[in-house]
Amino acid sequence: MSEKTPARILVLNGPNLNLLGTREPEVYGHETLADVEELCRTAAAGAGYEVEFLQSNHEGVLLDAIHAARGQVAGIVFNPGAFTHTSVALADAISGVQLPVVEVHISNVHRREAFRHHSYISPVAASIIVGAGVNGYVLGIQQLIHLAGK
Ligand code: DQA
Repeated sequence: MSEKTPARILVLNGPNLNLLGTREPEVYGHETLADVEELCRTAAAGAGYEVEFLQSNHEGVLLDAIHAARGQVAGIVFNPGAFTHTSVALADAISGVQLPVVEVHISNVHRREAFRHHSYISPVAASIIVGAGVNGYVLGIQQLIHLAGK
């Protein structure tokens, strides 16, 4: 018999996302990371899910969080920030824990510089949401809940 999926979702944010609200608002909008956390908690609570919310500017902290999530959460909504375009280690961690990950980018990375068009995370992500602003996190949570119900 399969084990019950935990009713908990990890929302993970990478480097510079602590600056949301003041960082390039023409690209990332005016909402702060605290606003994003509130949006995520509300979206998850409606379906009976709790949210664990973490932001770090350090790749190793993000790696440890992904490892620790194994068996503890239904999946991860992950905005890896610039590590998206550089980190084989984060991609390997996602493959290693075998949790569904929804990759989220606030901006439409494909309309931006060429170096943002490649993602090491996309090949190991269950789903990808780009250019939906901070609503992308809500869509990511809805998608993970949908996947957990399958
Ligand atoms: C981002 C896009 C990345 O290219 C960038 O480095 C970020 C934010 C986004 O949410 O649009 O830090 O992940």
